[in-house]
Amino acid sequence: MPKTKTQDKKIGSTLIVGGGIGGMQAALDLAASGIKVYLVDSKPSIGGVMAQLDKTFPTNDCAMCTMAPRLVEVGRHKDIEVITLADIESIKGTAGNFTLKLKKRARFIDEEKCTGCGLCVANCPVHNIIYITPEKDEIEISDEHLKIMNKIFAEYKETEGALVPILQKANDTFNYLPEPVLRYTADKLNMPLSVVCRIATFYKSFSLEPRGKHIISVCLGTACHVKGAGRVTAAIESELGIRRGKTTKDMKFTLETVRCIGCCGLAPVLKVGEEVHGLMSKTMVPELLHSYDGAS
Ligand code: FES
Repeated sequence: MPKTKTQDKKIGSTLIVGGGIGGMQAALDLAASGIKVYLVDSKPSIGGVMAQLDKTFPTNDCAMCTMAPRLVEVGRHKDIEVITLADIESIKGTAGNFTLKLKKRARFIDEEKCTGCGLCVANCPVHNIIYITPEKDEIEISDEHLKIMNKIFAEYKETEGALVPILQKANDTFNYLPEPVLRYTADKLNMPLSVVCRIATFYKSFSLEPRGKHIISVCLGTACHVKGAGRVTAAIESELGIRRGKTTKDMKFTLETVRCIGCCGLAPVLKVGEEVHGLMSKTMVPELLHSYDGAS
């Protein structure tokens, strides 16, 4: 039966409440079918809870890697209109023909002109004042740590925003970041300890616990997982008598797991320090460990 003119014509539009990962995907699917979509969220931006996550269960994949392409696509799609800071005041009508009334709260900036450059934040005359009550007047830091840290600070004295390289140097030198070192760094850089701790706990390469002489990083990325990285990890755990994330009592080995180290062709892969060992199997584990300080 030939289609009528009305059946051929795509009509109507859709409103999706909630700009989380589900809302964004629904908006993209509907827009791809030629339907105009209004994506409404009460928050200042879309992204939902997933934007606050580091990893997702059960694959431990990076949350931002899943979300970022959808965020960009939603922002660019000509048929998706994102309405943030908005609440639904009323809904009228029946299925297929709803009328909604939205209340949009003020953003206090011109959304047409804002490029997100951050200059307004830098020039804002209102600042939060952070009050810190020091637990101790004096930071108790050993002479050895003090000497090393002063040398590192001297190296970066001309560098602005040197917190990360300073922590990297300290972490490389001590093999972890001792608490007095973090306190001393905050004091020297004149910044809250919370900021230093936030950076120290954000990057996986920093550790707040003493680590072993050899750091074993087993890749559990998809390619390595499929090729038996789990069995290799279990063999290392059993050989060293520790669980992943832990250090042997003699401080020789720390066992860590990572996601894809870029040698998927050699899967399953692990690193000991900076040395890469590919095509691993559980039977190769004792010999490998033995080659690093006769551990087996
Ligand atoms: S998944 Fe292991 S190196 Fe890529």
